Amino acid sequence: MTSPSNSFTLPTSLEAWKKLENLAQPGVVEHLRDLLIDPERSHAMTVSLHGMELNYSHQRVTTEVMVALAELAQGTQLKEHTQALFAGERVNVSEQRAALHVALRGQGLQHPPWGEAIQAQVGTELARVCRFVDLFESHQLKGFGGEPFTDVVNLGIGGSALGPMTCVQALEGLNQGPSTHARVHFVSNVDAWSLWHTLKGLNPRTTLFVVQSKTFTTQETTLLASSAKRWLVDQGCSEHDLPRHLVAVTARQDLALKQGFLAEQTFHFWDWVGGRYSVWSSIGLPVALAIGAENFKSMLSGARAMDEHFFTAPVLENMPTLMALLGVWNRNFLKAPSHHIATYAYRLRGLTPYIQQLDMESNGKGTHLNANRVQIETAPIVWGGLGIDGQHAYFQLIHQGQHLVPVDFIGVRHDSACPLPLAQEHLRCLQLNMMAQAQAMALGRDESHTRQEMTAQGLSAEAIDALAPHRSFRGNTPSSSLWLQELDAFSLGMLMALYEHKTFVQATLWGINPFDQWGVELGKTMANELAQEGKKPS
Ligand code: F6P
Repeated sequence: MTSPSNSFTLPTSLEAWKKLENLAQPGVVEHLRDLLIDPERSHAMTVSLHGMELNYSHQRVTTEVMVALAELAQGTQLKEHTQALFAGERVNVSEQRAALHVALRGQGLQHPPWGEAIQAQVGTELARVCRFVDLFESHQLKGFGGEPFTDVVNLGIGGSALGPMTCVQALEGLNQGPSTHARVHFVSNVDAWSLWHTLKGLNPRTTLFVVQSKTFTTQETTLLASSAKRWLVDQGCSEHDLPRHLVAVTARQDLALKQGFLAEQTFHFWDWVGGRYSVWSSIGLPVALAIGAENFKSMLSGARAMDEHFFTAPVLENMPTLMALLGVWNRNFLKAPSHHIATYAYRLRGLTPYIQQLDMESNGKGTHLNANRVQIETAPIVWGGLGIDGQHAYFQLIHQGQHLVPVDFIGVRHDSACPLPLAQEHLRCLQLNMMAQAQAMALGRDESHTRQEMTAQGLSAEAIDALAPHRSFRGNTPSSSLWLQELDAFSLGMLMALYEHKTFVQATLWGINPFDQWGVELGKTMANELAQEGKKPS
């Protein structure tokens, strides 16, 4: 069965692939310390969008490599696949579903490619979310003691947690001081201590639980919800008042209503929204409660701006496509086994776990769209975290270890939100370290320069002989630097949509389906079987 969605071109069959294999041979592309001598390189290899800048001058590429990568994109019908995605075709071929996360942030578009019916459905649910936020902020939602809710606990896992948590953390600046916004907490792990750690500091009378689950059958989330209800009842909440403390966000409203959730506190999203792509849907309710409806809509607008850019910009000016092509160059041609995300903003501490699910659950695949076994590398291992912490820990391996580890550095140019008096000095320190790490990874320091440095430090010849090899740096580790003007709702929306589209482009290049996740099913099945057999840890 072929359809526009599952037809693809094997990338290795393309002339561009062979060109890239030749270009990747040792010595063909100069060392970064030589490429970076060109004073025009940084400007030529920077793409901007609404203040966001992607500088890929520290990637191991030349114009010839970029042209061949662009040919690869054209040869694998990227444009056609993108049009199919936006038009709501069943691009998720193994589940015969569309993947229309772009429709979730396209309100206000005239003649949307996904059609008026979906446009209306999305608009209705978004209005319900915004209305609920307004009720919360005007103190019309009250707990069993008659007091308005103050705290929200998100119970969910994977896509039902990581996206909302990333946003709430990133936009802390929008929830400062005395505010009508909710204090939002996240519990995803089924370990009782994970729930207790949050509940112990909360007032049950003013705590609202948002149970987030697309399937509404995820074992961990179900148990967390039962435990939360029990906590409320033990703290004096009557069975009658219990539903007031509970909100459901799910594609299975029927299950939620059967379990006693109030219809007016049950929010819906659709099966054509993947869990890891769902933060723009009602799954974003905790975000809207934390930052307000208008800021949530601003986040949607940022994602929309990235959608528009992705849909219209030429390949070599297209931010998501560039990041995807550079990732393919590093993965399939320079053979890097992993990809590192280094965020230089504490508020972005949730971004790496979010991208790990987005990237590895989408593209950690071994079967092509046509069900044939994949013969090329697909998703790299995505790892990372806060760069400042990493440079005092695992960056050692990136600088001097045996692996080639390409890095995305993500930083912020301006921060007007932090109330601390020395905030600008903190920001400067972050920025200098991010720039220095990208430079050190690219340039390295060869042994002759290391010897010169040690001689200048007055070390003896025998000390230099003994130490120089240990203190030299090969360099030539590639990186991209992504700078946000300010970490606000709009730029965060752009950033997260950027990585969604990067993931989609790589899947298109590899001829795989980024929208299913059969690989997570076996473990769940076995856990249920063990439970039914009454197995104990052995
Ligand atoms: O097990 C993986 C997964 O299905 C993810 O794809 C999903 O985001 C997460 O579990 C949670 O699923 P649900 O939202 O249905 O509870």
